[in-house]
Amino acid sequence: MWGWGSSTINLLNGGESLRTTGPNNPYRKRGPRNKGTSKVPDTITITDDRTGKTVTVPITDGVFPATAVRELDPSLYIYDPAYMQTAACKSSITYLDGEAGILRYRGYPIEQLAEKSTYLEVAYLLLNGELPNTEQLAQWTRDVTHHTFIHENMRKRFVDGFHYDAHPMGMFVSSLAALGTFYNDAKEIEDKASRDKQILRMIAKTPTLAAMAYRFSAGLPFVYPNNSLSFPANFLNMMWNVGGYEVDPRLERAMDVLFILHADHEQNCGTTAMRVVGSSHADPYTSAAAAASALYGPLHGGANEAVVRMLEDIGSIENVPAFMEEVKSGKGSRLMGFGHRVYKNYDPRAKIIKKTAYDVFEVTGKNPLLDIALKLEETALSDPYFVDRKLYPNVDFYSGLIYQALGFPVAMFTVLFAIPRTVGWLAHWQELLNDKDQKISRPRQWYTGPETRDYVPIVAR
Ligand code: CMC
Repeated sequence: MWGWGSSTINLLNGGESLRTTGPNNPYRKRGPRNKGTSKVPDTITITDDRTGKTVTVPITDGVFPATAVRELDPSLYIYDPAYMQTAACKSSITYLDGEAGILRYRGYPIEQLAEKSTYLEVAYLLLNGELPNTEQLAQWTRDVTHHTFIHENMRKRFVDGFHYDAHPMGMFVSSLAALGTFYNDAKEIEDKASRDKQILRMIAKTPTLAAMAYRFSAGLPFVYPNNSLSFPANFLNMMWNVGGYEVDPRLERAMDVLFILHADHEQNCGTTAMRVVGSSHADPYTSAAAAASALYGPLHGGANEAVVRMLEDIGSIENVPAFMEEVKSGKGSRLMGFGHRVYKNYDPRAKIIKKTAYDVFEVTGKNPLLDIALKLEETALSDPYFVDRKLYPNVDFYSGLIYQALGFPVAMFTVLFAIPRTVGWLAHWQELLNDKDQKISRPRQWYTGPETRDYVPIVAR
């Protein structure tokens, strides 16, 4: 039982003592993992001690409806900054168990998808719920490949207007929103055919926008998409082709694996932004621009950039102990690429990325920052500060090293994250629009400002 103010909440637990945290907690029944294994009643009873009113509601998959609180008192709100304890939607796209380090797209383990699938197949899976058959995949691949071009005015008039040293992620965010202005049918969000069209356009065109942002910042001529290349090879060609470029199949595969790993991650900050903006029925380009803006931040997708900058600042493995002491004292920066709101275990994507890094280094030569990263990881994983707080490498810890070895400038790293995450945003946008439970997002607040007071003329202040 816990109380807050004058309300109490009981988990009906058949007389057992309560444990509410930890991986073996019998009450932690999220997702399919523990289905049907618990013997305790699946209900929660909330008593409003001010009125004595009691409400009992079911717990399903570790979630109970907030309508319980509304039933007790419609003016009673739950204070939950950063939505730490709030499930804002039902979703059947991605399953994540942060304690166990499990990530699945539509039920398929990320490890199997990274080993056996391709980004375009995974995109189809995320959007449609099932893996495509041969014909479906061929059609989908053809459709995406034939929508990669962008309107010439996008490049000539819009992109050429940026300042010469504009950050590519800033360019990407605004290009996404601007792209929507070329498609008036984007506003027809109630029409499934129109929704599908915009989804296809965005998935196909984001690599083109990303490469365009880079070529502009490097002063290089734009390279048009090449329909004879795969999705990742076309992107690499648009990035690096200067008078001829042959894609190494090992790097093409590494790019595809990175795209698969970044395709979705359930209700992260960017996807939540997509859902919040999408809930106002804004068009998907504008909503995706909001999601990309959220991704831009260094605590989210910007962390891969921050990791490489941190490794460069550390400079050599001899400086690792002093750096770690500074992190732990709270005086220095955080150990970027470590820790996660949901994973309290090794991020399964980080494991795959670490392996992919070695595959890439076989082609490109080892990134000299790798030794510093390995030393940081080794030190952190045996240091009580990190162990006690369950801080493990996340997806961004090694991805930056691969991107750098592939030749991408640091400022492009978050853009590389945004390309594949576009499909995750769109899968959630589509799910949101089909969800009868959803309305425009509009949380409540706990007002802590002054009581009413009279306006004071400026001479009297
Ligand atoms: N280095 C040092 N200490 C840390 C770190 C870190 N990277 N992350 C968390 N902590 C400490 C934090 O100081 C706090 O300690 P205390 O309890 O003594 O105050 C404790 O761990 C809990 O931290 P928190 O900030 O309450 O945890 P959170 O869930 O709000 O933050 C996070 C999650 C990802 C923002 C955070 O771990 C972080 O800032 N990591 C570094 C940035 C990073 O790598 N971000 C990428 C996230 S994964 C990809 C993505 O989402 O896009």
